[in-house]
Order: sequence, then structure tokens, then C-alpha cells
Amino acid sequence: MNSLAGSRNDARHVAIKSFAYHVPERVVSNQELAGSLDTSDEWIVSHTGIRQRHIAARDQASSDLACRAARQVLQNSDVAAEEIDLIVLATATPDYNGFPSTACVLQDMLGCRNAVAFDITAACSGFIYGLEIARSMMIAGPDYNKALVVGAEVFSKIINWQDRSTCVLFGDGAGVALLSRDSSATLVLDSLLKSDGKGAEKLWVPEGGSRAPFCPGRSQAMAPRKYVEMDGRAVYNFAVAANQEILNEILERNGLTVADLRYIVPHQANLRIIQAIAKREKIPMEMFFTNIDRYANTSAASIPIALAELAASGDLRAGDLILCLGFGAGLTYAGVLLQWGKSSQ
Ligand code: UT7
Repeated sequence: MNSLAGSRNDARHVAIKSFAYHVPERVVSNQELAGSLDTSDEWIVSHTGIRQRHIAARDQASSDLACRAARQVLQNSDVAAEEIDLIVLATATPDYNGFPSTACVLQDMLGCRNAVAFDITAACSGFIYGLEIARSMMIAGPDYNKALVVGAEVFSKIINWQDRSTCVLFGDGAGVALLSRDSSATLVLDSLLKSDGKGAEKLWVPEGGSRAPFCPGRSQAMAPRKYVEMDGRAVYNFAVAANQEILNEILERNGLTVADLRYIVPHQANLRIIQAIAKREKIPMEMFFTNIDRYANTSAASIPIALAELAASGDLRAGDLILCLGFGAGLTYAGVLLQWGKSSQ
């Protein structure tokens, strides 16, 4: 059943012209981590599917990774920096705490002097949230015609490298999509965004914000809780249910079944989460695009990195439907339905 005539956003298409990504040079294998931590390649692979991750240099921030990916996407699309009128950047690891936004830093790096630029916070769902914000702004008025939607993260700077239950899971990277009104490019057919703030403390960085600022003079014995803390099992259970909910709701409201999709691109957090969704929904694993083995969980960057790799694989044909599924801290969850375009790269 493929009845996209009923798609929710037929009237005013916004399209993705190109994807690009960048990851830091340094690769850290599971074996390397096992050299300094009570863990093993066997545990990490069997519990997560992760084999290695890319880790930023000491002086590399989210904007540095975003800049490399954004330059590539501009080059791919033959678009000049001055033509960009909107930059929406999703990150949980901004260059600075509070302000300036990483999007403004990126705007200056790229020379996008005509762009409105701002950050959004939706953790690992951030890229899909950002895509929907940019798309809505483009649909709403004539001021925005070319947008960069960015997911950029350096989680290596906010994880406790002594905590084996979190540090093995994350990697650094950035992915970017360039949106335009080119209807022969990849169409954003539908998006679905959800939030559940009751789960805020299941995945968080407890201190350093206005709720619990770092206090000068606090005893050294009371180390600030400035790193990622997670109830892994609770997040796992939420992730499986949230992905199933988004998958079924988007398919149903667009009159589609799984068989109509070419690929499902899930947030790359844990291969076991993806396998659980596949099993419960009776979807063959080959339909899921995965690269978690090479990059680990790059949070807001994970879906655009996967889309950029899928785009470069040459495996997509014009008209193919791709469903992206995200979930993350907040808690947040989201999905976006794309139709691959003949002029997309
Ligand atoms: O973008 C969203 C981000 N977060 C997620 O998606 C995370 C969702 N949750 C998960 O992916 C899984 O819950 C984890 C991968 C985090 C953990 O897997 P699990 O199968 O739920 O393991 P567990 O937390 O129940 O721990 C099992 C054992 C524990 O040892 P004991 O108490 O049974 O002796 C842990 O201490 O595994 C131990 N363990 C480790 N052992 C070796 C935890 N981390 C490690 C490690 N190496 N890195």
C-alpha cells in the first residue's frame, strides 16, 4: 500500500538537496578503552554493537566538526555561504554554556552573513526536531529559502571516562542537511515530534545549569555531577516503545506499511534497541541502516551522519521512502518521512 497522495504536506514541499558529515580523525577502539577501563571488546560489542568511535581533539568543539560538514554540504549543492538564510543547529554539547549559540559561531566560521542562526536542545532527537523547525519556517513565509540543519556533538567532553556504563557508548561527529525549495530533491513528507519530560532524570547532566550551578569553594570531596548520568535500562525500554510508537503512527497517518519503505534510519544508540524493534514489528534487519559499529552514539549527529552515508552509498533511487526514528534525553522522540529525490546527493 503506497498512498502518498494522502501525505500530510503535499502542498508546500521543502526538500533536502544534500547531506554531509564529518567525524574527528582519532579512532578509539573498544580494545583501547579496555586498556584503561574494566570493560572488554566482547562486552561492548555484545551489549551495544559498537566497535569503535571517533573522538575529538582537545581543542575541537562542536562548531569545528559542524563547520567541516557544512562546508562539504555547500560544496555538494553548489550553494554559496551568503545564500543561506537559516541555520538551525541541534546539540547537547554547545561550544559555550548558555551563549553565544554554537549556530552563531558556525555562521561566522562559514561566512553565512545573511543567515538567522540559533541552537535547539532535544538531545538525540535534535536533528529531526531541527528539520521540522526549519521546514516550518520555510513553509510559513518567503524569508527562508535555503537552510542548514545541523546535528553536532562532542559527547567525549561531557562523559566521565572512568564510568564504563556510559563512556563506551558515545562518539563525536557532525551531520548537516541543506534544505531548499527544489522539488526534485529529497522531500520531507511528514514529521512527528513527541516529548515526555517525566523522564528528564533518566538521562541527564545533573549539575552546571541554573538548577544546580557549580559552587565556588565547594569541598573537593563533593565532585560536581557535571557528566552524563543515565538509567540505561529505563532508557532502553523507553527507546524501544518510543520507536515503535513513532513508526506505527507515521505509517498509519500516511497510509503506508513497512513494505512501502526502502530504509528505516534509526538513531544509532544501541544495535540491541534496533534489533528489538525489528523483532517486535517483524521487520527484517536489512531494512535498518546501521553504522553504530563505527561511530557509536553521536547523539544529534547520528541520524544526519547515517543519512549522509546512505546518500553516498548509491543505494537509493528517486522515489524511495526513508523513515528516520530518533529518541533521546528530555525525554524526546521523533520521526521524519523522506522521499528520496533525483537531484539529491
Ligand atoms: O541516545 C540515548 C542514549 N542511551 C541509550 O540508548 C542507552 C539505552 N540503554 C542501553 O543501551 C543499555 O541499557 C546499556 C548498553 C547502557 C547497558 O546494557 P544492559 O544490558 O542494560 O546492562 P546493565 O546496565 O544491566 O549492566 C549489566 C552488567 C552490570 O554488571 P552486574 O551488576 O551485572 O555485575 C554492569 O555493571 O554489565 C556491567 N557493565 C559493564 N561491563 C563491562 C556496564 N557497563 C559495562 C561495560 N563493560 N562497559
